[in-house]
Amino acid sequence: MRTAIFSILATATLTTQSALPSDALHSKRALLGWDEAYSKAEASLAKLSSSEKIGIVTGVGWMKGPCVGNTTPASSIGYPSLCLQDGPLGIRYVKGVTAFSAGIHAASTWDRDLIHERGSFMGNEAKQLGVNVQLGPAAGALGKFAKGGRNWEGFGADPYLQGIAMAETIKGMQESGVQATAKHWTVNEQERNRDTMSSNVGDRVLRELYNWPFADAVKADVASVMCSYNKVNSTWACESDFVMNKMLKEELGFKGYVMSDWNAQHTTTGSANGGMDMTMPGSDFNEGSYFWGPQLQSAVNNGQVQQSRVDDMVKRILASWYLVGQDKGYPATSFDSWNVGQKTITGNHFTNVRSMARDGIVLLKNEGASLPLKAPKSVAVIGLDSIVNPRGANACVDRGCNEGTLIMGWGSGSVEISNLVAPLDAIKAQGQKDGTTVTSSPNDNAQQGASAAQNAEVAVVCINANAGEGYITVEGNAGDRNDLNAWHNGNALVEAVAKVNKKTVVVVHSVGPILMESWIENPNVVAVVWAGLPGQESGNGLVDILYGAASPSGKLPYTIAKKESDYGTTIAPGDDSNWDLFIDYRRFDRDNIEPRFEFGFGLSYTNFTYADLAISGAPTAGPATGDIAPGGHVDLWETVATVTAEITNSGGVEGAEVPQLYIGYPAGSGTPPKQLRGFNKFKLAAGASSTATFELRRRDLSIWKDGEWVVPSGEFTVNVGASSRDIRLEGKITV
Ligand SMILES: *[C@@H]1O[C@H](CO)[C@@H](O)[C@H](O)[C@H]1NC(C)=O
Ligand SMILES: *[C@@H]1O[C@H](CO)[C@@H](O)[C@H](O)[C@H]1NC(C)=O
Repeated sequence: MRTAIFSILATATLTTQSALPSDALHSKRALLGWDEAYSKAEASLAKLSSSEKIGIVTGVGWMKGPCVGNTTPASSIGYPSLCLQDGPLGIRYVKGVTAFSAGIHAASTWDRDLIHERGSFMGNEAKQLGVNVQLGPAAGALGKFAKGGRNWEGFGADPYLQGIAMAETIKGMQESGVQATAKHWTVNEQERNRDTMSSNVGDRVLRELYNWPFADAVKADVASVMCSYNKVNSTWACESDFVMNKMLKEELGFKGYVMSDWNAQHTTTGSANGGMDMTMPGSDFNEGSYFWGPQLQSAVNNGQVQQSRVDDMVKRILASWYLVGQDKGYPATSFDSWNVGQKTITGNHFTNVRSMARDGIVLLKNEGASLPLKAPKSVAVIGLDSIVNPRGANACVDRGCNEGTLIMGWGSGSVEISNLVAPLDAIKAQGQKDGTTVTSSPNDNAQQGASAAQNAEVAVVCINANAGEGYITVEGNAGDRNDLNAWHNGNALVEAVAKVNKKTVVVVHSVGPILMESWIENPNVVAVVWAGLPGQESGNGLVDILYGAASPSGKLPYTIAKKESDYGTTIAPGDDSNWDLFIDYRRFDRDNIEPRFEFGFGLSYTNFTYADLAISGAPTAGPATGDIAPGGHVDLWETVATVTAEITNSGGVEGAEVPQLYIGYPAGSGTPPKQLRGFNKFKLAAGASSTATFELRRRDLSIWKDGEWVVPSGEFTVNVGASSRDIRLEGKITV
């Protein structure tokens, strides 16, 4: 049941002031509710033949249609061959699309409006190309492993941040008309052995970490969820009654359909009875066998699968199609994945990438206010990561190489890069305006870098670290990273340059944390600009920050450690039975480990002061007992307390701040010392103030205990600050 009151509560945590918006949003369409969508689906179901039903739930086979996934049309109800296409940062296998910022970079903006707009622009491109179902966004991998190959596709190592970003992305996408897919469900944290391993995870960790962002996705009415390759407690995720029926459909009240990851299905009846609703791509491209199609019909005929189960699959798929209005003149598919061609996409969607490239940058170090640069006489720009590779921007299939500046990782979550502004391009353009001599050493040779840097007023060294999906190995990294160092001896490059240049600025493009201990305290490294995976407007966003057109306002969506072992997790060589609530900052806080840069950290060109913490509301202890609606028990989403604080820009220039709220739970709750449960972002002129408002929902104070969500009684600590370790205000809520 979806009622107006719950939609209002769902958006109650939105900030009222938008931070640094880019171009105007696309016009938004109203979605149907699930009830109406189901009525239409039921009426259509009644008209379908058995073979049409089977065709709707079964892919036609790998490379047997224009999209990475395709189903059979049902002409009796005007239903098309559904086009399913990657991925989470844009449309794969088409030239001319926008290469959006990666999920991890979107997360580092902490900007709901920009994240929503990114979703809406991606969805608009999908619609223009006739993509019905876009295979994103991703909230799994969550980031238990700093080296995890696909962490960059999602929104950082915290379920709350992931959840907000999932919901905003999905709402944006579906308002544009495309069906979104929340993936990968579930506990798919590593690429190594992903399609043989079992993740053996306890009930509480599943709920409090892994299900959390998917609850937000379901609450945002996501059309589909993709079950993952791995096993969960020894049963394949795409065969698991517990994973699909119990946790997703019953607990979270999911109304859409579960599709398999590509070839993640293993049996005909197990998957059907376990709750899977669509098989992709429909044939096994390794073995050439079908599990559904005629096999599913046989299983129905001999009673292994009930007809009602197949009807339920069809209803879920059709309802999702009606939900986003694709029954009304949706464009036909107009591209071919297997013959990548150039398409003309309308809309200035790069504006969102430009804003994110800028606002997702995290300033980590800025000694003596070395940045912003003020018309220096000369700048040397150093590193292969500073340029567009002459052969094209990572021109290998699915970006499976690391040649030139890095704007996304590799694998099915990548797109063709048609337009790219690299750091060197943008710094040269700025240099022309300023009368700066810009020299370049566009490779990772330390000697050449040092000689370019020697006589320059400023040296900008660009280094990177890459990762991706396990079906491609890049420079010996089979998806997950081999280590946490910058690639191509980036440390040696930085050290060589810093040895000869007293104003060395390090720019890092990375899929996740790198170790920077060998140079971070070097006094000649005056600034470190964490530029993430910015998308095609990389250089322009970087110059905005380097030269002070905007003050940096990104915050880290993960912890950067001093050494790898501090994360306390190791990619499993086989099954993984080591799971707990203490991932990323949760572990550093519990074990009192000093990180190099903590979760939520980021410097600015101005200063912010925090004052006047106020808390209202009287939450009650006990379990959530409300009806199940999309997202789970409805009372989990009700606001039970409101926290406010006054934030003032006390520095000299305009800037945006991300006040963050972390909750400490009553003693004995077994929770990490603090967990993110709110954030705002707003832009403030020098001297201006604004009120940060954090709406705490029942779920934000709940833990999973004895099979239910419970608000424990006792004293909660409310921490409001500028990072997970820079707590400025503290209060209490007693329950
Ligand atoms: C899965 O395995 C974990 C760890 O062995 C266990 O605690 C949990 O109860 C299991 N869950 C289910 C649903 O079997
Ligand atoms: C911010 O505050 C610090 C410490 O009070 C001060 O040294 C610094 O100059 C301020 N920065 C700006 C940009 O106002």
